[in-house]
Amino acid sequence: MNARQTTSGGGVPGTSYAEFLERYPAYAATAEADALRAREFSRLDRLGHVYLDYTGGGLHGESQVRGHAEFLLGTVLGNPHSTNPTSMVATDYVERCRHRILAFFNASPDEYIPVLTANATHALKLVGEGYPFCAGDVLLLSFDNHNSVNGIREYDRIHGAVTKYVPVMPPDMRILDCVLERCLAESPRACNRLFAYPAQSNFSGVQHPLEWIDRAHDAEWDVLLDAAAFVPTNRLDLGCHHPDFVAISFYKMFGYPTGVGALIARREALEKLQRPWFAGGTITVASVQADRHFLAAGAQGFEDGTLNYACLPAVERGLDFLDSIGLDLIHTRVMSLTGWILDHMAAMTHENGRPIVRVYGPADTAMRGATIAFNVYDASGESISHLLVEERANRRNISLRTGCFCNPGAGELALGISREEMMQCLDRSGARMSLDQFRQCIDGKSTGAVRISLGLASNFEDAAAFLRFLGEFRER
Ligand SMILES: Cc1ncc(COP(=O)(O)O)c(C=O)c1O
Repeated sequence: MNARQTTSGGGVPGTSYAEFLERYPAYAATAEADALRAREFSRLDRLGHVYLDYTGGGLHGESQVRGHAEFLLGTVLGNPHSTNPTSMVATDYVERCRHRILAFFNASPDEYIPVLTANATHALKLVGEGYPFCAGDVLLLSFDNHNSVNGIREYDRIHGAVTKYVPVMPPDMRILDCVLERCLAESPRACNRLFAYPAQSNFSGVQHPLEWIDRAHDAEWDVLLDAAAFVPTNRLDLGCHHPDFVAISFYKMFGYPTGVGALIARREALEKLQRPWFAGGTITVASVQADRHFLAAGAQGFEDGTLNYACLPAVERGLDFLDSIGLDLIHTRVMSLTGWILDHMAAMTHENGRPIVRVYGPADTAMRGATIAFNVYDASGESISHLLVEERANRRNISLRTGCFCNPGAGELALGISREEMMQCLDRSGARMSLDQFRQCIDGKSTGAVRISLGLASNFEDAAAFLRFLGEFRER
C-alpha cells in the first residue's frame, strides 16, 4: 500500500482501500508489486498517468531498459547470418532467446519450435499464408477473434476453402459448448481443418477453455491459439495444453521491446505449412540460373530477412522480469482489481436508478481476464458516445481504448448490429469506407465501446481513479 492508497476514500464508491481489501483479501499478498511499481514504474505517478490499456500494450520496467542498454554498450553484435565472431555472438543470443521462450511456456524443445516474428500479427500471417488450404477445407473461427486472425479467411478464400464462425453469446460473450461441439463435428474429416480462437478475447476479456484444444484435436482439427491478450497476466503451459500454433507479441507482456513476437509451433505442424516464397535468411541454397531453392529447416525457414537481433536479448530479460515478479502474483493482483471494478460498475446508477454502464462480457471474475469492455449511458438510457468518454478520460490523463479494438465480430454482437444492417451499410460504400462513413451509416446504434485493461503495474489507485472518473457521469 502506498501513501496515495491510504488517502483514497472520501465517500466515493469504489475508492476505499480498506473495503477493497476486505472484499479481495488475496490482493494483500501481492504487496511486493507495490514496491515494484515504485521501483520500476515510478514514471506513471511522476507523470500523473492512469494507464488502463495493457491489452493495447504492456509497460516496461526501468531495469529492463537499463539492463538492455548496458548489454548493448558492452557487446558487439553482428548480423547473425554470418560466421564471423560478432555474428556468432548474435547467433548465440538468438538461440538463447528461443530456449528462454520455450522454457517460459514450459514447451518441450522436442515438441515445439519458436519462430521469431515482428509481432503476433506476423505470426498469424505465417500460419494463414502457409496452411495448406484446398477446396473443401475449413477454417473455423470464433466470432471474437482479433482482425489479425479474421484476416486468415482471405487466404482460405483464395484456395477455395470455407470460413465458418462460431458465435459468442451476449451478455457474457462466451461460446456455448454444445455449439462448438457441433461445429467441430460438422465438417467432413478427410481434409485440412484449422480452428483458430483467442485464449482471451481482447474485446470482452472472456477466457475460452484451453480444453478445447484437445477436443478439436480429437475431432482432427489443427488448432491455432491466439494467446496475445492472454499471456501478459496468465500462465500458458504448453506442457499441459498442446495447440499446434500459438501467436504472441512480447511488448504486450512486458512493454519492451516492441517489434518482436513469436509463432510457437508444434514441430510437425510447422512442417505442414508451405511457404509461398523464399527470402534472405530462409534458404540453405538458392540458384538464379537453375531456378531452384531449398528452404532452411525449422524456424529459420520462416524468418524472412534479418531478425531484430539487437532486441532479442531484451526479450530474454523481459521474460526473466516477469518470472521474477511471478505470473501468479500478477494474475491475483489484476483479477482482484478487475473484480472490484466490475462490482462497482454493476452497482453504479444515476439518481433515477438507471445504470450508468453496461459491460459486454462476464460480470464476475470466473474464466475472464483483466479486460473490460463497456459503454456509458445517460440518465435517460441513451448511450454516451465512446468518443466522448475517451475525450473526458484524456482530460483526466486516463489512457483507455475506444472503438471495436480490431475485434469486429465481438463488437457487432455486443452492440446488437445485425448481419443485415452491416450488409446494407457496407453495400452502400464504394471501394473504400472510412470509419466516419461507417459510423454515419450505422445510425442510431453505438459503433464502438470503451475498454479498460489492467496489467503488471496496475494498482488500487488506478482502479479507484477509474471508478471516480465513471462516477462523474452520474446525473442527479
Ligand atoms: C487477441 C489479440 N490478437 C492479436 C493481436 C495483434 O497483436 P499485434 O498488433 O501485436 O500483432 C492483438 C493486439 O491487440 C490482440 O489483442
